[in-house]
Amino acid sequence: LQVVVIGGGRNSEHEVSLVSAAAVVAGLDRSRHDVVPLTIDRSGRWEDATGAEIGLPQAIEVLRGCDVAIPMVHGRLGEDGALAALCDLIGVPYVGSGIGAGAIGMDKRVTKLLANDVGIPTASAVLLDRATAHAYRFREAVVVKPVSAGSSVGVSLVSSAAELPAAIEAALAVDDRLLIEERLVGREIDVAVLRRADGSIVVAPPLEIEAEGVFDHGTKYGGRAVFRVPAELSHEERWELERAAERMYDALDCSGVARIDFFLTADGPVLNEVNTTPGFTAQSQVPRMFQAAGISYSELLELLIEGALG
Ligand code: DAL
Ligand code: MG
Repeated sequence: LQVVVIGGGRNSEHEVSLVSAAAVVAGLDRSRHDVVPLTIDRSGRWEDATGAEIGLPQAIEVLRGCDVAIPMVHGRLGEDGALAALCDLIGVPYVGSGIGAGAIGMDKRVTKLLANDVGIPTASAVLLDRATAHAYRFREAVVVKPVSAGSSVGVSLVSSAAELPAAIEAALAVDDRLLIEERLVGREIDVAVLRRADGSIVVAPPLEIEAEGVFDHGTKYGGRAVFRVPAELSHEERWELERAAERMYDALDCSGVARIDFFLTADGPVLNEVNTTPGFTAQSQVPRMFQAAGISYSELLELLIEGALG
């Protein structure tokens, strides 16, 4: 098959998306596929494999000529449904979620509403913007985060009133709106859910993040995160996490693979967020989880391509 892999993107996760896309390009089985990389640079310009600017019309021609696209652009104007929309408009099959799931998953506030609607708890939060943020009064330790972002960009843990203004500015640097959330005490557990071409659901063994301190952008990509997969869980904990993950996958109407992140608290799983274009570097959680299920990186890509074409 002719497979176009799209990386980069015009948002704060640009670098991560480059690494994810490069890993996919390297992981595709070349005996089965011709691989055509496309990159969106930081300012939104499209580039071919040589780094030459090609422009959107030519990028559309490349996409039109392929059998399947693999959008690996995390964050806005990619994961948020923008690339799904582009592929839908052109009529090209693509790996991963459609417009609706992408847009909802990218919005941490709407994700909460949907989770609560299907009976999955989330951290309580207030929604603020530049005009209202100053009115927030610090009372207890909180997490400050942009409504739409990923890879922990613009996310701060705030333990004192003095830290609040800088945290709010950091979040507003990535999005016009921010959430101030209660700080949960619990283990950080990720669950990957994939729909196969025949419609059946595969849930990979849950993974625990054992970061020293905070699992922030530096820990995520500085090689300091320790993943334990499978996570050490009781049968009941694992069952609850997996069912909650499946419920979120269905509630958003995801496709392909989604990574659903939880805090496992004393009261059970609390949803943190849904990633419809989860990190796909060789070290990322999703490939590691499927590896633990006996599915290699290349096999995972084949499952995703079959799912897109099925
Ligand atoms: N947003 C990053 C790429 C992740 O979910 O892994
Ligand atoms: Mg994320």
